[in-house]
Amino acid sequence: MSVVTSAAAAEPNPLREGLEQERVPDASVLVIFGAAGDLTHRKLIPALYSLAHDGLLPGGQAIVGFARSDFSDESFRRSLREACDKFARTRPTEDAVWDNLAKSIFYIQGAFDDPAAYDRLAAKLAEIDQACGCGGRRLYYLAVPPPFFPVISKNLGEKGMVGDPEQGGPFTRVIIEKPFGHDLPSAKELNRVAVTTFRERQVFRIDHYLGKETVQNLLVLRFANGIFEPFWNRQYVDHVQVTVAESIGVEKRGNYFESAGITRDIIQNHMLQLVSLIAMEPPVAFEADAVRDEKVKVLRALRDLPRAGMESVAVRGQYAAGSVLGEHAEAYQKEESVSPDSKVETYAALKIFIDNWRWADVPFYIRAGKRLPKRVTDISIHFRLAPYPLFRKNNQVATQPNVLAIRIQPDEGISLKFESKVPGPTVRTAPVTMEFRYATSFGAEPPEAYERLLLETMLGDSTLFARRDEVETAWAWLDPLLAAWSQSGAPQPYPAGTWGPAAADQLIERDGRKWRRP
Ligand code: BG6
Repeated sequence: MSVVTSAAAAEPNPLREGLEQERVPDASVLVIFGAAGDLTHRKLIPALYSLAHDGLLPGGQAIVGFARSDFSDESFRRSLREACDKFARTRPTEDAVWDNLAKSIFYIQGAFDDPAAYDRLAAKLAEIDQACGCGGRRLYYLAVPPPFFPVISKNLGEKGMVGDPEQGGPFTRVIIEKPFGHDLPSAKELNRVAVTTFRERQVFRIDHYLGKETVQNLLVLRFANGIFEPFWNRQYVDHVQVTVAESIGVEKRGNYFESAGITRDIIQNHMLQLVSLIAMEPPVAFEADAVRDEKVKVLRALRDLPRAGMESVAVRGQYAAGSVLGEHAEAYQKEESVSPDSKVETYAALKIFIDNWRWADVPFYIRAGKRLPKRVTDISIHFRLAPYPLFRKNNQVATQPNVLAIRIQPDEGISLKFESKVPGPTVRTAPVTMEFRYATSFGAEPPEAYERLLLETMLGDSTLFARRDEVETAWAWLDPLLAAWSQSGAPQPYPAGTWGPAAADQLIERDGRKWRRP
């Protein structure tokens, strides 16, 4: 069964156009530290190109790459063009759009700890201000590992390259990438360093899940519709499931993953953000602090995981050799830069509770894993059965619970499963689904998360960024689990290409429920 939506396929959406026109920011200089790396090539520049392609970048927006590698402006632009050809959402690259963007892209070679390099950078920025009309507005993107944050912010501060918003004047903002720490103490230390040079409202912590259209749509689904809110609570919801599954392994990131594991890599940030958005109370306004105040309350209400019997609510696994999407996949322990007796988890499943009035005793089952059968991120709200089962078969309840499934990716959309009468002379029921698909309703694939997030940093709206207290509260809750796991034996093996270890199935089946197969 399909739902006819009002936005017909391929028709321009006037509401969206109006919004986009209103939201063109002032031109600034975006300085990317670590510009020779993967993130710049795979995500940042392709996103900036797509913004330019869609007419959303302000005229005169400039980009300066800063890194140790040896590039000239020209060779830097060439390598970025190749990256756009491969990775931009809006492909093939259009020469006119690229040429226009490329003329405002520059490169400064330098080491992060060399004060002289910052003098060269400052001189270049002043030159660009004159040529492009950027008026001293600065965005510093730290696409570098966290150990470099202190030295970069110290140098920017000492060279007088950071404006103070309390004094007025052109803005300076700093954008940082996860990991925001390894545990609570290291996260606090990073945050302390950040606020010695910048004020909290100048700091934009990227969690790219918040830039996904479907994740933002969680708020719209919940708070722009009257029908969902009345049953979005413990009275009607039996349980909630969240799955972040990936078919890829750790690829070339063995080194990083060995110190992270899936819990730090996905659960601490992306998944807890999803849980907060599903569970939060309505904010008083759709405004950065109002939204983040409500999200952090959910994190504060997370029930501590029990120290005794932790294994009944927390399961970790590690992929062994297997086959994913028809191809042989090596075991995690055989991946590049991974220890052959590594105990790092590539899969984790947790049963968690949010101790507040709305969610008391409603379990949230969440799981994330690498080398699972497919790439899918899916949230499902499982409702209680109707109070009295009128429709029975052989004296058994013949109906299934309603499920609202929110497909974050791929095949972005929402479906509602409900019971329907099977046509015919007898009263037989069967589950059917109502479907909403982004691609069908809006005639386009949603933009990349980084497009939206970069635009928001230019606009200075931090609604879609993690606030300091969110990050620290998430670590405070997870630290005991991570500490317990670091003291216990090895994670349970699961063959690559399966849905994780058997213990993860038992975690939910023990409660008479089952993981949804998205
Ligand atoms: C990153 C993780 O934050 O998110 C990666 O570090 C993971 O390990 C990636 O693969 C998943 O992002 P997405 O957008 O593909 O779901």
